[in-house]
Amino acid sequence: MLEELDTLKTIALTAVSAAADEPAVEAARVEFLGKKSALTGMGGRMREVPPDQKGAVGAKLNEVRTAITTAIDEKKAALLAARDAAAVAGIDLTLPGRPAWRGGLHPLTQLQDRAVKILRGMGFALATGPEVETEWHCFDALNTPADHPARNEQDTFYFPNGWLLRTHTSSVQIRTMETAVPPVRIIAPGSAFRRDEIDATHLSAFTQMEGLYIAENVSLADLKGTLEAFYRALLGPKTRLRFRPHFFPFTEPSYEVDVELHLAGQPARWVEIAGCGMVDPAVFEAVCQQRGDRVYDPERVTGFAFGMGLERLAMILFGLPDIRLLIENDARFLQQFA
Ligand code: DAH
Repeated sequence: MLEELDTLKTIALTAVSAAADEPAVEAARVEFLGKKSALTGMGGRMREVPPDQKGAVGAKLNEVRTAITTAIDEKKAALLAARDAAAVAGIDLTLPGRPAWRGGLHPLTQLQDRAVKILRGMGFALATGPEVETEWHCFDALNTPADHPARNEQDTFYFPNGWLLRTHTSSVQIRTMETAVPPVRIIAPGSAFRRDEIDATHLSAFTQMEGLYIAENVSLADLKGTLEAFYRALLGPKTRLRFRPHFFPFTEPSYEVDVELHLAGQPARWVEIAGCGMVDPAVFEAVCQQRGDRVYDPERVTGFAFGMGLERLAMILFGLPDIRLLIENDARFLQQFA
């Protein structure tokens, strides 16, 4: 039996080492260590072994079983290691990782968010109005006569039914006063549209921000103080403002606002940045007529309004040479603001 066991051990170890994959190793385990294996059978034959040989045969049985078990365990571990190695073959784990793409807000959005935040902090609430407007909201109620050049078909996009794409956000002044009662303090950022030739400083669809404050006893001093505080918060505490008399149909008096820019490495210079003024009584009268009440009676309330182009502000603030950079979506440009 001792010789039989030695032979069995040789056969089993040869079979295990020849097993090419995990199923083959498992088959060898069943064949050589399983219930029906020769080894288990020989264990059952121990009682036939003469007493003086039982010790030696028993020891041999154990030795063979241990040897086969060890060989199978080692083979399984070796196959597993080979499988792991194959899975990562060709992958260079020392390469640096790929950076994840990071989104960012468009520079114009960033600027608008900043402007809105400052004015909200000063008590202005956000207001909106439609981009497709009536002539009445865009022009008539804003005291703009029928023969005003801004109403020309060459300057304004009209629909066949007489509606139009709003040429400024000032229409939101009217929309707001139609539904809200004074005191009213709103800002309205949004798109405006004009039939302009597109070039380095003009777009046919652009962005404005309107402001309106109506209450009893709102004065020109309030307007100047508000715009001064706003531009100082936006452009820096040393920013100076200049109010130049101008004309707008919907304000009286009206002004254009210039700010003094201090850009690094450049001499200070004045740039035009907004239009503003005290709301014209004719605007209040138009609103009163539309509402059918007198809550905007120009004898009772006064107010100021202002409007600014946000692309222009962005060009000044970010030093852009061409307004079209803001709509071309060139990632090389946009990335600089992410
Ligand atoms: N709506 C004017 C424009 O588009 C800008 C403007 C000027 C708005 C004076 C105002 C204002 O509210 O008071 O050119």
